[in-house]
Amino acid sequence: MKPEIYTPSATGSDVDINIDPAARVQSARLSRRNFIKGIIATGATVASGSMLGTLSGCSGESQTSTSVAGAVERLISLNVNGKVRRVDVLPQETLAMTLRYKLGLTGTKLGCDRGECGACTILIDDVPTYSCSTLSHGVRGRKVTTVEGLQAANGDLHPVQQAFVDELGPQCGFCTPGQLMSAVGLLKVNPNPSREEARQAMSGNLCRCGAYDHYLNSVMRAAQEQLT
Ligand code: FES
Ligand code: FES
Repeated sequence: MKPEIYTPSATGSDVDINIDPAARVQSARLSRRNFIKGIIATGATVASGSMLGTLSGCSGESQTSTSVAGAVERLISLNVNGKVRRVDVLPQETLAMTLRYKLGLTGTKLGCDRGECGACTILIDDVPTYSCSTLSHGVRGRKVTTVEGLQAANGDLHPVQQAFVDELGPQCGFCTPGQLMSAVGLLKVNPNPSREEARQAMSGNLCRCGAYDHYLNSVMRAAQEQLT
């Protein structure tokens, strides 16, 4: 007797045990082939969507974020030191990694990489923030400032940088960029801090060289010089 053609139900749960096994295997192979074809087609859609965004120079964020439900757009725009930078960012990537290894801004240091030492401090919308504990995707549309963004266009040091030099703040220098960003963030909201207020504002920045008093003197000097 001629075997029936195997046609699985929508749920695929009601297997007819009377169907010829060879026909069932053949049908399963066809389904698998169609499934793989579908995956490849979907991947091609994502890839071409990203490429179109790149080639057209459009933001791409709205373009491809809707092309595949649940997909995360990797090519994003970040506002860093006053410039819009296009960068390919993994969903779980931290801002410290993006700044250092994608954008080449190695002034931001990575010490503990877990929110303890402050070496990675940068400003987000002028607020000192640990970039090792911040996802890059979370700062789209916000203003990111790193130590490279402090210096004036003509090469003049920022007043806080100059105060750090004058007070011999940096010893080995590893913690210095983070210390600078915390100091700049403080003086933006409190231009005339007491020494105790400055100490508290800088308390999230560890210094293995123990130059804490030098850094505090620097903050107080910068505040005085900005006021005069
Ligand atoms: S590297 Fe970010 S807090 Fe230590
Ligand atoms: S100057 Fe060396 S860790 Fe602070």
